[in-house]
Amino acid sequence: MVKKLLQVLKGEAVSPPPVWLMRQAGRYLPEYRALRAKAPDFIRFCLTPDVAAEVTLQPVLRFDLDAAILFADILLIPHALGQKVWFAEGEGPRLEPVRDMAGLDALTYSAAMLAPVMETIKRVRADLPERAALIGFAGAPWTVATYMIEGMGGTDHGTTKALAEKDPAFFDRLMDILVESTSAYLIAQANAGAEALQIFESWAGSVPDALWGRAVLEPTRRVVEAVKAKHPNMPVIGFPRLKGALASDYAKATGVNGVGIDQMTDITALQMPRGIAVQGNLSPELLLEGGETMRAEAKRLVKAMTGKPFIFNLGHGVMQPTPPEHVAELVAAIRS
Ligand code: CP3
Repeated sequence: MVKKLLQVLKGEAVSPPPVWLMRQAGRYLPEYRALRAKAPDFIRFCLTPDVAAEVTLQPVLRFDLDAAILFADILLIPHALGQKVWFAEGEGPRLEPVRDMAGLDALTYSAAMLAPVMETIKRVRADLPERAALIGFAGAPWTVATYMIEGMGGTDHGTTKALAEKDPAFFDRLMDILVESTSAYLIAQANAGAEALQIFESWAGSVPDALWGRAVLEPTRRVVEAVKAKHPNMPVIGFPRLKGALASDYAKATGVNGVGIDQMTDITALQMPRGIAVQGNLSPELLLEGGETMRAEAKRLVKAMTGKPFIFNLGHGVMQPTPPEHVAELVAAIRS
């Protein structure tokens, strides 16, 4: 059976489109919360293959989705570099910030620390339903750098931007470290059995124009190039969140096969280069709301994208209070 997601990432239009959702595994699912409740430490949870494999499969089995996304986190890279990363209950991620060359000197990427992720991929592949493709992923260098420098999530990333200007040697070296570790990590995921890879640039929205090439396009291009040097046919999806309007230029500059589009951009109006897929972009708020409003918007999207290489997804991750039944209703609406 040809997997629809992989067909679309080759540039084919498929009707109805394949569907999966960012953050499809997670706290909105009771079966996820039940497993998570037994694990005090989130990083350990991600690095325990039998649990991570089960959590990866939960939404795919429940909703018959066209893709599984590896259950892991973008902050496993800082963890494997030796930076201290933890998740404070109700506060989101915390890291011991790295802001100078001495901090960078202390970082060394340990592939061995992420070996459990590769075991998770093997287990998921063994149990994956026939229609579903397994997507591996990593954070893009800029997005991961904002966490490493700020020490937490946030939206303006003032310290990161200031350092990129005032200490370019530091910033460019951090980008190099992230390009190398992220490339090695994604290649290992492909070796283990990932069938497509997504690069999350969740904080593309905070990048000033003057930094766009240096902080986003060039580091991402280097990661894609490194992956494709080892796996020439591996499809790669980039997700420059809140920069959806730049999707065409982003695809040309980075070499990705598909671009994830946030809900602020009109996906139906994008003019993409031939053969480049788009993915998105239903608002997660509409999924939370559910009902006829959600179904009508989903059908409008599917109809408007007919004939184009399109993967149905949200514009960002599933929100925690989302009733799981809304996901089932959404999938039914897309396929009806
Ligand atoms: O289903 C999936 O999409 C796969 C799993 C996945 C997770 N994180 C699981 C997770 C993926 C793809 C990610 C990526 C990720 N992690 C991103 C990029 C995507 C995005 O949302 O923009 C980012 C920015 C992170 C960093 C991160 N990790 C944040 C902001 C949080 C939330 C912290 C909180 O306490 O609210 C996490 C933790 C996290 N990652 C959870 C899950 C299911 C929740 C942890 C828990 O169960 O307590």
